[in-house]
Amino acid sequence: MKIVCAYSGGLDTSVMVHWLKERYDAEIITYTGDLGQGDDLDAIRAKALRTGAVRAVVDDLRERFVDEFIFPALKANALYEGTYPLHTALGRPLLAARLCEVAVEFGADAIAHGCTGKGNDQVRFEVAAQCLAPHLGVIAPLREWDLTTRELEIEYAVERGIEIPVTLEKPYSIDENIWGCAIECGEMEDLWAEPPEDAWRMTKDPRTVKLPSREIIIGFEQGIPVSLDGEMLPPVLLLEKLNQIAGDYGIGRMDMVENRVVGLKSREVYEGPAAVILVAAHVELERVVLDRPTSTYKRRIADDFANLIYDGLWFGPLRHALQAFVDETQKHVTGEVRIRLSAGRYIVTGRRSPYSLYDDGLATYSHGDTFDREAAAGFLKLYGLSYRTWGGLQRKVGEHPSE
Ligand code: ARG
Repeated sequence: MKIVCAYSGGLDTSVMVHWLKERYDAEIITYTGDLGQGDDLDAIRAKALRTGAVRAVVDDLRERFVDEFIFPALKANALYEGTYPLHTALGRPLLAARLCEVAVEFGADAIAHGCTGKGNDQVRFEVAAQCLAPHLGVIAPLREWDLTTRELEIEYAVERGIEIPVTLEKPYSIDENIWGCAIECGEMEDLWAEPPEDAWRMTKDPRTVKLPSREIIIGFEQGIPVSLDGEMLPPVLLLEKLNQIAGDYGIGRMDMVENRVVGLKSREVYEGPAAVILVAAHVELERVVLDRPTSTYKRRIADDFANLIYDGLWFGPLRHALQAFVDETQKHVTGEVRIRLSAGRYIVTGRRSPYSLYDDGLATYSHGDTFDREAAAGFLKLYGLSYRTWGGLQRKVGEHPSE
């Protein structure tokens, strides 16, 4: 038997490699994808081999992640439950796709992942795998084994000489990539407790930021960010720079309670400096270039789009259908948005586009007004007609709408 196992080098996946080998008498190929989490990939590869993998596949997925997952979500302004920019939920389908590709390439029988039985990530991995490679088996050791606590996993590792990551002193579960970071566990399980300062990774403490306020200008082409302060940048670099700049201002911290797919609520602490700024800028540019009905409709489906990403349905037909709509709306989402940054805060201060539907003549209250004020009277006569009829009836039957 041959298994391709998702591998991060952390405690769970290190124990997993050993456990899978023993339990299934299998050859293990580990797979590690770089989504911008900032880990030392050479060290991870070497460690996977030391832990007993016959082969360790590592690849840089950052560009693909940004182009095929992050930007499509940004075009939809997808924020789960109005807040979470979905960095983890967007990363999983890509990792699942690569796991399946590697499994096919090496003729493996199954893929394995290190997700727990009460999280969302198992849903994303497995639904993606079912879409892409329904013939492959999927193994989730954390749902199967008796190592139900971290202590038991550490004991298992020590007994078998498996290296334990040195980062264990922080009691957090962290998932980071170029679109954001999620921090869970430890004292944050108490909903009333403020996240401890050492939990944050991408952002400075906004209370101690000493930087003078500054403006940045983000340029978009067809809904995709392409430049920063007038300088054209490739997507990965643009996100890295923006994470750095906004992170230094302590921008992009979120602390929320969310509804998981499997039915429970959980406290989630997130960071996404570039994500929050880019969504805000993109929303603002759309306000200028989209007509009212499209804008209203698009805002409504933003929630559906976020939900389906969260729920692991990325490769399914609904995402493709909604994506086609979203992409169609982006044809004219080209222009620039200026944003002022200050400690822990950002505010849009300007926007411009060659496709702007903002008409100075129509909008102005000063000289040069082109709006036909007289036409408004006729408009209101018809627009209010049904309420005029209704109001008349209320009078007749002795009821008053204001009471
Ligand atoms: N709650 C988020 C989601 O389901 C983030 C999960 C991140 N995982 C972690 N180990 N911190 O997408």
